[in-house]
Amino acid sequence: MSLLAPEAVSRRAAAARRAVVFTGAGISQESGLGTFRDADGLWSRFRPEDLATPEAFARDPERVTSWYIERFEQARRAEPNAGHRAIASWERWFPSLVVVTQNVDRLHHRSGSSDVLELHGTLWTWRCARCGAKRDAAALPEQRPPACVCGGIFRPDVVWFGETLPLAEFDRAAAECRRADLFVVVGTSATVWPAAGLIETAAAGGALIVEVNPEATPLSGAAACVLRGPAGEMLPRWSREIERWRSPA
Ligand code: OAD
Repeated sequence: MSLLAPEAVSRRAAAARRAVVFTGAGISQESGLGTFRDADGLWSRFRPEDLATPEAFARDPERVTSWYIERFEQARRAEPNAGHRAIASWERWFPSLVVVTQNVDRLHHRSGSSDVLELHGTLWTWRCARCGAKRDAAALPEQRPPACVCGGIFRPDVVWFGETLPLAEFDRAAAECRRADLFVVVGTSATVWPAAGLIETAAAGGALIVEVNPEATPLSGAAACVLRGPAGEMLPRWSREIERWRSPA
């Protein structure tokens, strides 16, 4: 079997104690969920300013909430793939493993990862834009847009363009990146800030940077190693290599 990653990289990864896995839409692509900026991505068919901003919600709450309810239904029907499962399985190796995700689909939780920071929120809970009441997406009122008893409208608990990231999650993510000795970045174009800045934070802290992506990204050049291919194939294969270094024959 030819090795996927240089030996030195897998050996260093195998000895890591504080690992951060930073993910984007690409990790869920093999679960059937669309990415944003690929040729067939969501932002090639829809304009973010029509759907993913507070202004769009104020202008056309029915369109915006219907779109997010459909995305929630897709996420609910989707199953975690071999890439999500490989990441969850790494908890048996590293004393600390934190998944920092830009995804709102909850597939990391559903694959068994126990420490997940959702930088862009989640589709699975909604809140009233007027009174702040929380509601599970699966229990939203039938009418569109979904109305709260206070007269307000429910919106998804996701972060829209122009909004700030959840402070506690971002601060902890930054702290974990500073301390990480292994930083694996999977399936993100690394173009949306401030999330993308975490890669620089991890690099400045001395972490070994490994990228998993079928395409080149702005950060490929900064990675010690790039696993060029889909996450659902690359991550289980790389896991087997790391396993070898953890239990040398
Ligand atoms: P993008 O759509 O920008 O990037 C997806 C990345 O996944 C690309 O680099 C693809 O090459 C890669 N990819 C595709 N298939 C893959 C596979 N099977 N395995 C691994 N990688 C694969 O998505 P994000 O980087 O997540 O924010 O986008 C970041 C943010 O921009 C999102 O959270 C969302 C979006 O606008 C908001 O809505 C606020």
